[in-house]
This record gives sequence, C-alpha cells and structure tokens, in this order.
Amino acid sequence: MTTALSDIHIRPARLEDAGDLASLCFPEEDAGRVRDYLAFCLCHPHITRLVAEANGRVVGNIELVRWKDKGEIGGLCVAAAFRRRGIARRLLEAAVELARRQGIRRLELYAPADQPWLLAFYRRMGFDGAEKAWLPLTTGGAEVVRLHMGMSPPCGSGEPDGIWVG
Ligand SMILES: CC(C)(COP(=O)(O)OP(=O)(O)OC[C@H]1O[C@@H](n2cnc3c(N)ncnc32)[C@H](O)[C@@H]1OP(=O)(O)O)[C@@H](O)C(=O)NCCC(=O)NCCS
Repeated sequence: MTTALSDIHIRPARLEDAGDLASLCFPEEDAGRVRDYLAFCLCHPHITRLVAEANGRVVGNIELVRWKDKGEIGGLCVAAAFRRRGIARRLLEAAVELARRQGIRRLELYAPADQPWLLAFYRRMGFDGAEKAWLPLTTGGAEVVRLHMGMSPPCGSGEPDGIWVG
C-alpha cells in the first residue's frame, strides 16, 4: 500500500524516534550513535530536529542549527522506501519556514558536489551559490557546494525563539 503525501506529518523529533531514525533513515550508522546524537540535539538550545512521520513510523529527518541570525540546514534524509514522493521537499519547506520564524536572516547548507539533481533541487527551493569546499568526514571526506539563502523576517514577526508551528 502506498502512503499518500497527505498522510505524511512533519513534526519536531522526540527521543522515541531514535529507533526508526536508526533503522529507516540512517541504517548505515551505529544505532547507539544515532540515539546519542538525537539526545544531544534535543537538549541543545540552538538545534531543532524535524522528522516526517508516516503511519506512525519516522521516515525522514532534517535539522536546523541556529546561531544568532545565521542558520544551517543539515541531516536531510528520507528512508529509501519513501523517496521520490515529495517528503524531502516538505521537510525542507518546514525547516526554511522555521528558520524564518526564528529570525534567521541567512540560511546555509552543504550539498554533495557530485549530485547535480540535488543541487538543482536546492536551487529550485531558493538556495544560491556555487562555492566548493572539502568536507572532512570519518569516511574520508567529500567535495560539497556551499549554498545559501537570504531571508526576510516573517510578517508580524516577534514570536519567541524555538516556536514550532506545524
Ligand atoms: C536527497 C533525499 C533526501 C531526497 O528525498 P526525497 O523525499 O526522495 O525527495 P523528494 O521526493 O522531495 O524530491 C525532491 C526533488 O528532487 C527530485 N529528486 C528526488 N530524487 C531524485 C533523483 N534520484 N534523481 C533526480 N531527481 C530527484 C524530485 O523530482 C524533487 O524535485 P521537485 O520537488 O522540484 O519536483 C533522499 O534521496 C535521501 O535521503 N538521500 C540520501 C541522503 C542525502 O543524500 N541527503 C542529502 C544531503 S545534502
């Protein structure tokens, strides 16, 4: 049975999501490290993790790190069986809206340089830039493109930090 996109719910992550995040979204990662990093994010005042839920299972993840009026998007991932249904788009839209509400004026992300479709997707979503960088990883590292988006404050801004409007 195929899950309709209307059945996908984007919400803030909870510690109970650790199992699905490890088994469905990050199956190549150590489950304990996935849980520890989630616990770290949930306690961190500048990090917000959002997940996509379908039929009670967590099938997607994104995170927003805020420092003053700058933000960085990372950790975008959708479970392999749920790809190509618009879930990443929904997660990214939610993270961008959250950034706007948090008062972020410049949002950045790093995209793998060897996936042109992903770069094209981010550009369709409003990100700009072409500066290349080398991202050191435990697996050796990867060439990435640094993308950014300038943001204007939301209409009627003034909400407290950390607000989530789902
Ligand atoms: C990247 C990833 C999150 C995309 O998730 P997804 O839910 O399948 O993406 P969506 O269905 O929302 O598609 C987003 C856009 O990319 C396009 N797209 C998605 N997968 C694609 C593919 N394999 N080839 C070409 N285009 C693709 C879609 O057409 C869509 O474009 P549109 O919204 O402008 O019409 C998913 O493939 C994934 O988890 N990959 C492994 C982790 C990763 O690479 N994360 C990105 C780190 S920067």
